[in-house]
Amino acid sequence: MKKSVYIKTFGCQMNKSDSKRLEESFAAYGGSVISDESDADVVIYNTCSVREHAENKALSHIGRLKFLKDKKPSIKICVVGCMAQRMGEEIKKRLPHVDVVAGPSLMFELPGILYDGAGSGVFTDDPENRDYKEFFPGVIAGESEFARYVPIMRGCDNFCSYCIVPYVRGREKYRKKEDIIAECRVLGGKGIKEITLLGQAVNSHPEFKEILKEAAVVKRLKRVRFLTSYPGKMDRETIDIVRENETLCNMFHIPLQSGSDKILKKMKRRYTLSKYLDSALYIRATIPFASISTDFIVGFPGETESDFEKTIDAVKKIKFDQSYTFKYSSRPGTKAAGYEETVTEEEKQDRLKKLNEMCNAASLERNRLFEGREETVFSDGENSGRTGENKIVHFKGSRAAAGEEVRVRIEKALPHSLKGERIN
Ligand code: SAH
Ligand code: SF4
Ligand code: F3S
Repeated sequence: MKKSVYIKTFGCQMNKSDSKRLEESFAAYGGSVISDESDADVVIYNTCSVREHAENKALSHIGRLKFLKDKKPSIKICVVGCMAQRMGEEIKKRLPHVDVVAGPSLMFELPGILYDGAGSGVFTDDPENRDYKEFFPGVIAGESEFARYVPIMRGCDNFCSYCIVPYVRGREKYRKKEDIIAECRVLGGKGIKEITLLGQAVNSHPEFKEILKEAAVVKRLKRVRFLTSYPGKMDRETIDIVRENETLCNMFHIPLQSGSDKILKKMKRRYTLSKYLDSALYIRATIPFASISTDFIVGFPGETESDFEKTIDAVKKIKFDQSYTFKYSSRPGTKAAGYEETVTEEEKQDRLKKLNEMCNAASLERNRLFEGREETVFSDGENSGRTGENKIVHFKGSRAAAGEEVRVRIEKALPHSLKGERIN
């Protein structure tokens, strides 16, 4: 029986990429992906555990699926990904209408479990022993797709003290460079123009620099991005490789987390602000239009007003193009969960607000550099798209198909986007 599958994805790019692979695994069984969950035979929620809020959001969505199950008992409700790994059996206890719970490495067995197997159960065992190759059933690129994620590693070994990722995704496992490049070639051949190489600490891959250089010259690929760079491993050589290869986008996502060395140390981030500045200022000096984006956590245990001021100062110095800011959320089982929380909810909220104001001002200042310039935008099919620096551009003028390259004269900068006029 051909199943129609609905997938909802929470969390980071890694989860989005996994959901895509999951679609491919179902397609291999003759299943099809649909966009309305009430018509589906299989409903899958791919979840995130990074903050308590992310889990609560997923749990309340999944709770609401009970009415679907009541209406159509044959429907299979599956919770996969990081929260599935962290909570396991507890999900089925709290939400008995859930059929399958599967962690980030076992979720690719879902088609087998549903078509040939038990049809229900909790699958969270030992993701350590799996061969990376098993995660990649093959590549099927959709008709209107022009951009794709290409994971180059899974898991994380960094164990930052606040972070759940190493616990739910396991130790780092690297995909072979040859397999990565082979996939890039297949994607190029299928009309994909833009790829994003993915990893929680993408530059931890032992062959990262070679992968960048080789991906940059794959035929027909026009843009190659990579995320997320671990600051401790970012170096001038990587920045030089980006500058020297036209295809490699001038964009760096390097989460700083805090501007205070004391807090960085407590976070077990293995770099100092001055090490970070060395990379960031080298990017600013050698690739002036390159974007630098970051993540920040405010209200980490022990963060004083003066530590927070150091974060603000770092924003003033670096002027990030884009910042993702979060209030610290204690995650069970992490090292920081044992630290006494010293920052009240109100203080967290207040710091978040101040930081956002500062970050928005920095983003606007950076975006203003683009006013008056002509940029190439890969259209998303509407009258908008992205530049190589990953700036969102809204443009006037004739409509462009998804993936079409549009030349745009930038007229106005906003904090999180640019506006302009199509000129080709
Ligand atoms: N691998 C990436 C990002 C992982 S999670 C990295 O190393 O930077 C994405 C972001 O969520 C992190 O950069 C961090 O800013 C935030 N984050 C992670 N754990 C958090 C927690 N417990 N509370 C609040 N924010 C958190
Ligand atoms: Fe989490 Fe740190 Fe790994 Fe990023 S590098 S996923 S923040 S443990
Ligand atoms: Fe990503 Fe969330 Fe998992 S950030 S790795 S989906 S915990």
